[in-house]
Amino acid sequence: MEGGTKVSAEQLEKELAELLDRETFEPPEEFAAGALVSDESAYAEAEKDPEGWWAKQAEALDWFEPWDTVLDESDAPFYKWFAGGKLNASYNALDRHVEAGRGDRVAFHWRGEEGEERDVTYAELLRDTKRLANVLKDRGVQPGDVVGIFLPMIPEVAVAMLACARIGAPHNVVFGGFSPESVKERMEFSEAKALITVDCARRKGKVAAIKPDVDEFLGDVPSIETVVVVRNTGADVDMQEGRDLFYDEAIEAASEDCPAEPLDAEHPLYVLYTSGSTAKPKGILHTTGGYLTGIAWTHRHVFDLRPDDDVYWCSADVGWVTGHSYIVYGPLVNGATSVMYEGAPDYPDKDIWWELCERYGVTLFYTAPTAIRACIKWGIEYPQRHDLSKLRLLGTVGEPINPKAWLWYWKIIGGERCPVVDTWWQTETGAIMISALPAVVPAKPGSATRPLPGVFPAVLDEEGNEVPDGEQGLLAITRPWPSMLRNLFKDPERYKETYFSKFGDTTYFVGDAARRDEDGYFWIVGRVDDVVNVSGHRLSTAEVESAIVSHPKVAEAAVIGQQDEDTGQSIAAFVILEGDLEGSEQLETEVREHVARRIGKLARPKRIIWTADVPKTRSGKIMRRLLRDIAEGRELGDVTTLREPGVMKDLEGKFADSESS
Ligand code: PRX
Repeated sequence: MEGGTKVSAEQLEKELAELLDRETFEPPEEFAAGALVSDESAYAEAEKDPEGWWAKQAEALDWFEPWDTVLDESDAPFYKWFAGGKLNASYNALDRHVEAGRGDRVAFHWRGEEGEERDVTYAELLRDTKRLANVLKDRGVQPGDVVGIFLPMIPEVAVAMLACARIGAPHNVVFGGFSPESVKERMEFSEAKALITVDCARRKGKVAAIKPDVDEFLGDVPSIETVVVVRNTGADVDMQEGRDLFYDEAIEAASEDCPAEPLDAEHPLYVLYTSGSTAKPKGILHTTGGYLTGIAWTHRHVFDLRPDDDVYWCSADVGWVTGHSYIVYGPLVNGATSVMYEGAPDYPDKDIWWELCERYGVTLFYTAPTAIRACIKWGIEYPQRHDLSKLRLLGTVGEPINPKAWLWYWKIIGGERCPVVDTWWQTETGAIMISALPAVVPAKPGSATRPLPGVFPAVLDEEGNEVPDGEQGLLAITRPWPSMLRNLFKDPERYKETYFSKFGDTTYFVGDAARRDEDGYFWIVGRVDDVVNVSGHRLSTAEVESAIVSHPKVAEAAVIGQQDEDTGQSIAAFVILEGDLEGSEQLETEVREHVARRIGKLARPKRIIWTADVPKTRSGKIMRRLLRDIAEGRELGDVTTLREPGVMKDLEGKFADSESS
């Protein structure tokens, strides 16, 4: 193997331990020599004239009509970017490449779980996108109507998103791991007019029925008039006359003529539900012109993309914002060739990712720290089975990366020659905000490094004053940026309240704690609200609590995120049972499965602590802060405001007794 570094496990441990002392990693010389951004001038230019700088980047898109105003702040915090301009996301992702003679370029090297392969070109994607757009139009889907998408990682998911974008119907993609209950809620909240789904999904050699589950809730969502079913496994499924269509038959019969709708720059492109600090998920609304500007620029420059030569792979699921921005829109708008993989990282074996990197000659690879930690656990023999020498850049996203995982990634996967970019951003920010430009900014393992040009974060105290460098505070963004969320779907009050009430209308409240060091590098500490980050998946403690409490034997629950070696954070639930019921192993399993059914497997509590009480303020609010203190083994914070101060002693004992399963 010429790629990674061949070392024994013991030798590696020793070498990583030594590397832990090394604070910075300069951009590798060979990489820096040919990089797209090779000096600091972009930072200076954007600092001097942020709007002018973003306008210049927006010109990389194809516009049907130019904009009148770059940034309209007159109704802050409801910002508008590139108002008056008209464009279409699917035109930018597909038509313009085909028109420029690049139709034969592979957009996705798709690989199925059982080893199936499909290369989908830009021309094929465009043809199917147009046909599916016509199917939706024929079914009465109009610009502004929401279309739900509940699909696994198959090329049709990109077609579905782009078909919606083509006709101006905002899509609402739901991650395949969510339960039917969660899909239903998201369809209801967004009043979806149509849903695009599959017969069945495959996961690690098993088949899960999807359409029958969907059918169960469809009666509760009367707004859905059309269901398009992709035949994924070919299983027999019931189809409702007049409502349900098979994807293959429908697009076969549809016309290939479907010009892209010229849409306002501020036309909604999609809504994506994510967890907030209450049980009800928030519908993050992204629009077209600014969003595409942000994702196209960052995808090109953070990953140093050469569309003609690179093979890019983002291992996320398309159901998260990372999939929207950096599997679908960013790579396609930039004309990249990507890998799309249907399955899990350990199926059929734990080397599948590295096999695919070798097979398709992946040069740019983007994943989550939690996946890297799993690979570390599995052992270096898996990556060492494969030639990873084509890789030239690695990225991470979703949670802080611990330096040891960073070093392992850099050394074992990157063979010490690839820069590693740690990219900080959120569903709300749409695009990467804090990250190294890989040839310019030296890395410090564990830090997302510096804000990208045109992005202005700050670390503030509760009153909104900047805290001195080195001190922890609240992360905020002090100027609007093009790919920012525009609103919460049909909930402008909650949008203002969540993001623009703490520091006013012009400073975006992130929800993360952070500190900035003397070199201007940002170190993200974690969330300050009741959002938990499990394996890079965002969950709300309130949502999990409400799922637990809906179990008939449960009276009350308090949920916290606790540190977890494998998943970053994991869920611990303090549960009070009804009457004099006693906790048992069987009940633990029941509660876990109940949560899986309500939200999805990803929300199952790792640890359940049966208790008779939880700490509450005199006004009845659960003090999760104290529960976190117990979970992290910290000295208890202030308990004087507690209704029943005695409860803490009891809980400490119970927590120590409870076993993590
Ligand atoms: O806490 C931060 C963490 O993930 C949150 C955003 O989650 P979500 O909207 O699901 O988007 C995840 C993918 C963009 C942030 O508020 N986070 C994301 N990236 C990083 C991170 N924390 C530390 N370092 C990162 N690179």
